Amino acid sequence: MTTPSAPVSAAPPEGASAWVTIDLHAISDNVRELVRRTPGAELMAVVKADAYGHGLEQSARAAVAGGATWLGVAQLSEALQLRAAGVTTRALTWLYAPGADFGAAIDADLDISVSAPWALDAVVAAARERGRIARVHAKVDTGLARNGALGEGWTELVAALGPVVAEGAVELVGVWSHFALADAPRHPTVLAQRERFVDAVAELERAGIRPSVRHLANSAATLTNPDAHFDLVRPGLAVYGLSPVPDLGAPEDFGLREAMRVTARLALVKHAPAGQGVSYGHAYTTTQDTLLGLVPLGYADGIPRHAGSVGPVGVDGRRLTVAGRVCMDQFVLDLGPSYAGAAGDEVVILGRGADGEPTAQDWATAVGTINYEIVTRVSSRLPRVVLGGQA
Ligand SMILES: Cc1ncc(COP(=O)(O)O)c(C=O)c1O
Repeated sequence: MTTPSAPVSAAPPEGASAWVTIDLHAISDNVRELVRRTPGAELMAVVKADAYGHGLEQSARAAVAGGATWLGVAQLSEALQLRAAGVTTRALTWLYAPGADFGAAIDADLDISVSAPWALDAVVAAARERGRIARVHAKVDTGLARNGALGEGWTELVAALGPVVAEGAVELVGVWSHFALADAPRHPTVLAQRERFVDAVAELERAGIRPSVRHLANSAATLTNPDAHFDLVRPGLAVYGLSPVPDLGAPEDFGLREAMRVTARLALVKHAPAGQGVSYGHAYTTTQDTLLGLVPLGYADGIPRHAGSVGPVGVDGRRLTVAGRVCMDQFVLDLGPSYAGAAGDEVVILGRGADGEPTAQDWATAVGTINYEIVTRVSSRLPRVVLGGQA
């Protein structure tokens, strides 16, 4: 059963000129839908980068309420932040450099990814020092050529794991990898990476090591590639209701809905004559006597500077485009001569496509990036309005 959609316009903070609304019901419902689509697999909600801009702790709790049994973050500091907030869900951290405080990770009951023998050595040293068992996920690079042990490197990592698993310093909980082109499910690398993953697991098993969770699927593979689900799926973007494969479907086509809405109030509405250059560089010029509206959001708030003259904004049911350049704190809209509103009117920067609002995907398309970047860029200086949950 899904939680009814929360209202999309909660009261903004007193006097705020712009704000971000996060619908935690949407996050829980999205996870519920992803769980429904992945029978037999557990779900790790990826909440790195402040939960893709949606708020780490509150999003993690909402994801767990929807059925996530794991949380995933890149940085150790993010995992420790979850623990400090009292989130006790099993959590994996995977990106660090030599010198990382693995002792703190073990003390905080975190699972740690290792991609190389040096990392395993450091984790083992911290575990021995504490007389505790470190929980490790071995990462194999199946072809992304980013993190993970590649080729002979994997064989070396498996060899290094044997004795420390036998000694009991390490529990090898998981084996995992990440796709390069999951958003193109028919691309030959997708099949090739899956095959390499299966071989890598077999190599571990031949060494007498049996991980309990094998995981490979991000959002795109979770939604489009059941063969990649294995024991655990690891979606991030889809948790927040965005489509990882916009060419294949909008969020609603996958039973998802966007959890983030960004709203602003016009700071000023004023008449301008035809031929008036607008904003820095006069990259836009009015074509008629008109009304200009000032939106108090700029690139310091996460509005891409590249959105000048292309970024979509919802105004009174219409879709307008940023007029001229985006500045650090503000940009301008040409509201047209018959605009009947005034300063203080709400405009929608991004929200739910199904409700007719410009979406993160629309912004991504307009500026030539991906929806991931649009939502994760939204600045922490904007106040948050949270719908649902106790956060
Ligand atoms: C290793 C890893 N797994 C899973 C994810 C989640 O990916 P997505 O947001 O595409 O679902 C990410 C995100 O980039 C990642 O780096």
